[in-house]
Parts: sequence; C-alpha cells; structure tokens
Amino acid sequence: MKVNQIKDLVSKMTLDEKIGQVIQLATPFFKGASDEGQITGPMKEMHIPDHMLQHIGSVLGASGAKETRSIQEQYLQDSRLRIPLLIMSDIIHGYKTIFPVPLAIGSSWDLELAEKSATIAAKEAAVSGVHVTFAPMVDLVRDPRWGRVMESTGEDSYLNSAFAKAQVRGFQGSDLKHDHESVASCVKHFAGYGAAEGGRDYNTVNMSERELRESYLPAFKAALEAGSKLVMTAFNTVDGIPASANKLLMRDLLREEWNFDGVVISDWGAVKELIPHGVASDEKEAAMKAITAGVDIEMMTGCYANHLQQLIETNAMDVELLNEAVIRILQLKDELGLFDDPYRGADEKREAEVVMCSAHRQAARDIAAKSCVLLKNEQDVLPLATTQKMALLGPFANSNDILGPWSWLGDKNEAIPLDVGMRNQLPASQLYVANGCGVNKHCEQDLSKAIELAKQSDVVVLALGESSEMSGEAGSRTNIQLPQAQLDLVAAIVKLGKPTVAVLFNGRPLDLHGVVDQVDAVLEAWYPGTEGGTAIADILFGNVNPSGKLTMSFPYNVGQIPVYYNSYNTGRPQGAINAQERYVSQYLDCPNEALFPFGYGLSYTYFKYSDLELSSDLMTPDKPITVKVKVTNAGDVAGQEVVQLYIRDLVGEVVRPLKELKGFQKISLQPGEERVVMFTLTEEQLRYHHADLSYHSDEGRFDLYVGANSQDVMTISFNLHKTKGE
Ligand code: GLC
Repeated sequence: MKVNQIKDLVSKMTLDEKIGQVIQLATPFFKGASDEGQITGPMKEMHIPDHMLQHIGSVLGASGAKETRSIQEQYLQDSRLRIPLLIMSDIIHGYKTIFPVPLAIGSSWDLELAEKSATIAAKEAAVSGVHVTFAPMVDLVRDPRWGRVMESTGEDSYLNSAFAKAQVRGFQGSDLKHDHESVASCVKHFAGYGAAEGGRDYNTVNMSERELRESYLPAFKAALEAGSKLVMTAFNTVDGIPASANKLLMRDLLREEWNFDGVVISDWGAVKELIPHGVASDEKEAAMKAITAGVDIEMMTGCYANHLQQLIETNAMDVELLNEAVIRILQLKDELGLFDDPYRGADEKREAEVVMCSAHRQAARDIAAKSCVLLKNEQDVLPLATTQKMALLGPFANSNDILGPWSWLGDKNEAIPLDVGMRNQLPASQLYVANGCGVNKHCEQDLSKAIELAKQSDVVVLALGESSEMSGEAGSRTNIQLPQAQLDLVAAIVKLGKPTVAVLFNGRPLDLHGVVDQVDAVLEAWYPGTEGGTAIADILFGNVNPSGKLTMSFPYNVGQIPVYYNSYNTGRPQGAINAQERYVSQYLDCPNEALFPFGYGLSYTYFKYSDLELSSDLMTPDKPITVKVKVTNAGDVAGQEVVQLYIRDLVGEVVRPLKELKGFQKISLQPGEERVVMFTLTEEQLRYHHADLSYHSDEGRFDLYVGANSQDVMTISFNLHKTKGE
C-alpha cells in the first residue's frame, strides 16, 4: 500500500483501534493460542481493558503454523477493518534447529555461515507463522560477568557490525513482501545494554555520548543500513535516562540523524519500568514519556492501554504521536505482505518438510564445528586417534543441555550430546562414559567411578561447563570460574597423569584457573546447539580442523574485568622496559593482558606470516593503501586461518585505542600452500569521533598490524595526509 492508503486507513480507525496497534501482548491474551487465557502473575496486574483486547496489534511468542493460523483467523473475525495481527518471537540462534549461540558464531569469523544460520532460522520460523524475530542482538560486550554476552558477537564494533549486517540479510532476505520464508529483523537492545555496571543485568549504564557513538552504536547503524525493520529499546539507562524514555536516542539520533522510519518496540515491560527507574511517578506518566520519546509499541505492560486515551482526550498528548506510530506499524504489516495474505508463510505441510530437516541439521553441525576455539593443545594431544581407549567424563559428557539460552523452541531431546557424537566415530568398547560430578555438585561415588574409568583409558576427555541457567538473561555471575565440583574432578583426573582434554560448554569467557593450567588441551565449544556432540567429535577426531578465534577476551580472573584488546595506552603504560616498575598502570597480582586475547585460536596446523608490505607509506583521502601479507600453511594438515588487520592511530585529538580491527579474511590452505592476502585500507576507515563529536580522520602516523590474533602481529607504518593527490 502507498503511504496515503495507509494514512487513509488510519483515518478510519477509532481511538481504541489505534491504541490497540501500539500494544504487544503474549499469546495467553489471544483466542486460538495454545495457552489462551492462562493470564497469571504479572500479566494479571496489567489490567488490560476488555474492550482493548480485540484491537491488540501484535502478539509475542506465538509459533507453529497451526497455532499462528488459528490466532490470526480468530483475530481477524473481530477486526472491523481486517487489519492483520503481527506475530513476533525470539528467534536468536535458530528456531527448532538450534545453532551455536551468537558468541560462538562470532568466533567462526565466517559471515557467510552467520548469514546462512539466520536464513535457515528465518525459513523455519516463517513457515511456522512468525513474521518478526527479535534479533540480531548487537550489544558490544566487555564484561563476562554479564550473562547475555552469549547473545553478542563480541567486544569489537567493526566485527559486530559485519555480523549484524550478515544476520539481517539472512533473516530478511531480499523481498520481505513476497518471500514468505523470510522474517523481519528487530535489532536490539538500543542502546548500550552490554555496558551494565558490574556486569549485573539491567544495571546502570554510564558512558559519554562519544564512547556510545564510537563503540556501542556502530553495529546498530550497520543493522539499519542492512535494512532491519525494527529496533528494540534496552532496559538500561543511558546517561541517566532509561532507553525507553530517551528522546535523544530515539528521536534525535534514530529518527532525525539516521533517518530510521521503521518501528521502535520496547523491551518486555520496559515502559512500566520507567516507574522503578524513577523517571515516571505512575503508568500514565510512563506512557506519556515513552510515546513522546518514540516508543511505537509497548511490550507486555498496560501503560498505553490504560492511559493513552485519557492523555489524548485531555489534550495532554498530541494524537499525532499515536497516529505516526500506527502508520509505521501498518507500514511494517504491509511490507510483510500481511494485508495481501494475513497467514503469510504459515503452512503446516511446508513446516513438516522444512523444520529440523537434515540439510538444516548439517548446517548446524558445520557452523558448530567452525565456531569451536582451540585454546590449548600441548604435545598435540588433539586430534584423538580412534585406536585409543577413551574416558569421557564430566557433567556434560552425556548432557543435552547444550542448546544454550534463547533456544526456547529448540528440543533438547533432539540435541546430540557429546557421548553420542563420539560413539558415532569410535567403537563402543573404546569409550567409557561417566559424569564424575554434577554441574555444581560433588558426588563421591560418581567421582570414584570416573577415576576408575580414567585409569583404564589411554586419554581422558573432560566435558565441563555452565548449565544454560548459569548464562543468558538475568544470568550474571560474580565468580566466572567453573563450579568447584568440576574443578575437583579436573584435579582428581589430572593426578592420574593421562593425556587430558577439556571441552567447555559455556556462554561467556571463563576464569579458567584450575583447568587450563592442569590439562593438556582445551577446546572452547560454547553452547554448540542441536548438533553439538557431532560437531565437537568432528573436531576431537580431526575430521574438522578447528578454525575459531575468540571475539571476546578471556581474563585471567574476574578482578581483571573489563579487559579487552582495543583499550587505551594510559599515561603510564606497562611495557617490557618497565615491567618491574611499580608506578605504572598494572596490578600487583595479575598481568594486564588477557589470558587469551581477542582474535586468538589455535589450529591442528600452524601458519607463518611473512612479506608484509604496503602499496605506499602515504595515504590520502583519494589514495587508499593496499596491504599485502604472505600466509603459509607450515604444517601437514589443511586448515583455515583468520588473517586479521589492525591499525593504531598514534596521535589523535582524543586518546586512540592500542589496536582497532579494520579487516579480516578467513582463508583455507592446504599443507605447504602459501597465499598472498590483500586488504584495502581507506581514509574513511581511519575516522573517529572527536571531542566535539565531529567524525573525521586526522593527518599523522599510523601503525598497521597483520597477524593471527590481536597480539601476535607483524607491524608496518604509514602516514595519512589529508590533501588529495599528494
Ligand atoms: C526479554 C529480552 C529481549 C527479548 C524480549 C522478548 O526480556 O530482554 O531480548 O526479545 O524480552 O522476549
């Protein structure tokens, strides 16, 4: 429909019908839902007026072709103007075929695989009747105490921006209106949610607008440049103003500066939370603040439902604020083709063909293997030989709790645990399996059995980690070590002197004391998803050579947090020359650097870097620099390497990071093969936010780094001159 047609439709709507469009409720409020009428707990407190219920514009959490068709059918029967219902759900890393968590997919550094996983997730969700997914989550993360780091692709805004674009492309495809196996994406959480103080979920965020623009906003802008149709506001405050009442963020930045004309939806309950935040005295004021600041849809609280009518009728609020929100919502429904076909992609036959099909499971297996990060491999304990007797021990040896948070539609019973994955590649007589302990509880009997099995084995694999409850939303931890019961299992097994491998199932960088200093090899498998056991076995037995690289630093311990690669030098940097100096920026009891840095990951082969050269040591705005480096697979197995390009702006108007990622390429090399990898670096990539927030580059000297991670790099320098054609 043209905008005028939509405006014409809005002009025909009653005030109730318009207010209904700016409310989103969960399925219990809808006829035809499998949990219809189960309005319990906080939902009862919403006091949604009965006359409003039939007008609610979107539903949260519906899924399945049968259920979504039933809800839509009954909804339209009550809709005077037959305005279709919008169906939104959290499809974060898969619908029913669950992919590794986003922090794992980020560790693959494989944008094509990321896009593919989003495409598959969208297809399964769309044929099941979902129209919008609340993804990608693009919050930059530097604090592993925060449980939601598993939802992010990491600590770097350049990499997060690339993954944000890939995910939006995957979810939305190229024709939302006619491709009914795509879904609209909703980039979240706008903004700065990953910087919650103390890593405590929902906590205060305090940062300058400059830091927000420099580090936390680029991935949102990237998602919107890729066409994301919605934005979700965050729970947290930004500089003292909750995101859902933040006019600077939503009107000035999002609408005016970035020209975003899509829909803004609050996070669950975030509008009513303006009251405990202390910027609204009651729900009426919360409604006024949120709609004035730019929240188009209130998710799961009743402020709009109970107060917009009175605010408008008493002229406390301009009805145009409501009209513009409704127009955006109806435009979204039209862009999804819902006015032509309210049932869109919901199709039970197609659902049965597509959901969890073998091709999707194979993709999940491929992506999970590519997301694993090999952190340690002393004496090449890995890959394992299938001639060996093995003890697979630990709470995750045979656990199906490997889908991770935000996999609510995934079926753990469909997940492949590690023991099954290994049994598929090893004669049963050669694999002993025991837990030895629970995730966080000791069991002497289990421990004794585990020790006995280890004694009978040539090699031990310890499957350790966090339950999915220990991660995700509201999963903040002040101690990021593995639970003591697991550390005691490691200590007891390592005493036996057998080659020992630890496989980690977790959603955050951990303090690996008691593991990495004890065992011979460590494989970070994250929450690997439905095909986790199969994928990890592929790595353990060498069918797949690990190629993942960390996108979030692993600290030595929680006291180091935040530790991230692109930090500033400070006025008293600690370096090799003053390592013993007290009065420099350092700890008395811990190094400054991360235990495992951003970009780090080992392979079963090794790569040599040589011949780093620039097309010129002088860059001007019209003359980019070409960077060349030779990479050689110096080992005897094929492998993939993520070649990383960083820069350092040596002198800026404000302090500049020690390194900034500006390019990466994941290449495959056969044994002995060498490749000249080329990057193009432009003046535009050297721009940054100055003290007055102007965004531009400065003339001067830059160091340029190329290497296998953010620490092991080759270095060369160049100058930037701003006069063209020099
Ligand atoms: C949750 C999350 C958000 C999610 C929403 C709907 O509280 O913060 O990421 O999309 O509610 O489930």
